[in-house]
Amino acid sequence: MGTDARLAAVELCDVKFGWRNSSAPLLSIPEMRFEQGEKVFLAGPSGYGKSTLLGLMSGVLLPQEGTIRVLGKGWGEMSASQRDRYRADHLGVIFQMFNLVPYLSALENVLLPLKFSKLRAARLLDPEEQARELLGRLGIGSDLLGRPAGELSVGEQQRTAAVRALLGQPEVLIADEPTSALDADNRDAFLELLIAEVELSGATLIFVSHDGSLASRFDRVVQLADFRTVAR
Ligand SMILES: Nc1ncnc2c1ncn2[C@@H]1O[C@H](COP(=O)(O)OP(=O)(O)OP(=O)(O)O)[C@@H](O)[C@H]1O
Ligand SMILES: [Mg+2]
Repeated sequence: MGTDARLAAVELCDVKFGWRNSSAPLLSIPEMRFEQGEKVFLAGPSGYGKSTLLGLMSGVLLPQEGTIRVLGKGWGEMSASQRDRYRADHLGVIFQMFNLVPYLSALENVLLPLKFSKLRAARLLDPEEQARELLGRLGIGSDLLGRPAGELSVGEQQRTAAVRALLGQPEVLIADEPTSALDADNRDAFLELLIAEVELSGATLIFVSHDGSLASRFDRVVQLADFRTVAR
């Protein structure tokens, strides 16, 4: 992948984040480090700040204090447009709410990040063929590919969002509750594919889920409760 292996995939130092500047911070993280190639399960009850933390890691949110680096580069050093570009180049994000563009087809949604990242597009010989293949492996067959994403079932949208994040092999994959809308069979197939793809590309996987039964598939579990400063 050409990246210095000693660099952390994601590294947080002395981070404090609160949704309102006035109140005590929601998250206080002296140090948190995710190595390249690691598969980490991020656990914590609802409302504890899992999605907030993923927003900080992906440079969508900036902390009031501290630094967050992805592959050695800090989000705080970049302008908003540089952050967008850096995110498109290096991160695949599966959002809790999917963030698919409802009027674009499943296939068009999946190919969208490649329009924002030449780096990711350049990794694929035939992006459309690769997109169809990955979608097919997650049960989004040719009958569904051309449908507007807004007409897909929730589980189908979730699987489409996963393929969008994986395509072009970003170094860091961030997944927020990606299995919550899937039945047991689809959940297992989804996790198999996700893990096989990150192992193939050597990517780092940071995976949030309520479903503790999935944790055994990961190298390590991080408990968010250890980093919350607000009493519950
Ligand atoms: N945009 C926002 N503005 C203000 N407060 C917010 C915002 N988003 C989240 N919060 C608050 O931050 C806290 C953590 O929310 P977050 O969504 O990060 O939790 P979570 O651990 O992902 O929960 P869940 O498991 O339900 O997805 C909650 O108390 C929530 O109300
Ligand atoms: Mg959440």
